[in-house]
Amino acid sequence: MMRLAVFASGEGSNFEAIAKACSDGRLDARVVLMVCDRPGAPVVEKARRMGIESFVFSPRDYESKSSYETEILGELKRREVDLICLAGYMRIVSEVLLRPYEGRILNIHPSLLPSFKGAHAVEQALEYGVKVFGVTVHYVSAELDSGRIIAQRSFEYEGDSAQQVHALGQKIEHELYPEAIQKVINELK
Ligand code: GAR
Repeated sequence: MMRLAVFASGEGSNFEAIAKACSDGRLDARVVLMVCDRPGAPVVEKARRMGIESFVFSPRDYESKSSYETEILGELKRREVDLICLAGYMRIVSEVLLRPYEGRILNIHPSLLPSFKGAHAVEQALEYGVKVFGVTVHYVSAELDSGRIIAQRSFEYEGDSAQQVHALGQKIEHELYPEAIQKVINELK
């Protein structure tokens, strides 16, 4: 059974979807750790309720990114984590984690990559006036939102509400991410 760590910074709806897919057997894996860089984020309470261990930290308590990532790496090793799933983790991951977990870090992004990289993808897509939106699951590489694509799904939307696009996209994310993780697990086996 693959041992997953999910990294999140906010609501944690994708964390919850992944953890549920594991517990009901749709995903041949177990979430053994949730990592969060915002102590007050709703995802922290979600993990607690689901009985999933978490490592929660404030980046400002550390000297540098590599010092907190070194600590995260220790937590991952201690629990023998096989695969890292970034799920709304709003930080760039450095070589400290990328090297030991090469080919084993995934991310979900709310656009059809390579369009609209970065932290405001939905807003940028709306501003551009696109009519087809989407979601991408990809491998994480040193360059932001640029690793090899694992899965993508699109949807049409006409309007100007970022909130509506986020909601439509998240419904898709909650199905697509567990499916994409299973695909990666099958390839790693
Ligand atoms: C997700 O919609 C994800 O696509 C997005 O953050 C949201 C987190 O929601 N990620 C990015 O924008 C990455 N650049 P969640 O905390 O409810 O899973």
